[in-house]
Amino acid sequence: MAIKWEENLRLGVATIDEQHEAMFSQFALLSRAVQQGSCDTKIKEILDFLVDYTEIHFLEEEKLMALHDYAGLAEQRQQHEIFKAAISTLHEMVANQVPSKGIAIKIDAALVRYTINHVRKLDSQLVEFIKCRTG
Ligand SMILES: [Fe+2]
Ligand SMILES: [Fe+2]
Repeated sequence: MAIKWEENLRLGVATIDEQHEAMFSQFALLSRAVQQGSCDTKIKEILDFLVDYTEIHFLEEEKLMALHDYAGLAEQRQQHEIFKAAISTLHEMVANQVPSKGIAIKIDAALVRYTINHVRKLDSQLVEFIKCRTG
């Protein structure tokens, strides 16, 4: 699956959309680095960035959810944790020098597909809820 931000992933809350877009561009960098067989340091650098960035993004969303007393908070939080665990697994795979094909498959399944589904479903419901509340 090509790792690319698509306009139909835009949900309509600027901060969240900008963060999702930035996450996708990091996924693309990560995937390219793995495919091109870049050195582990480069790959780790991108993963480190993603760890920090997703932490900020998830906190931002969770703060919004708490503010609006959103019923889906627990489910979102649970999925955010799964994503964070996937990043740690990738870190370990790189550290253990797992062949890049295995890493590419994990990136595709655990990061890209997961994130696209998460954004399309849960984040989209969240944004609809907030728009309805604040609109
Ligand atoms: Fe989320
Ligand atoms: Fe999100």
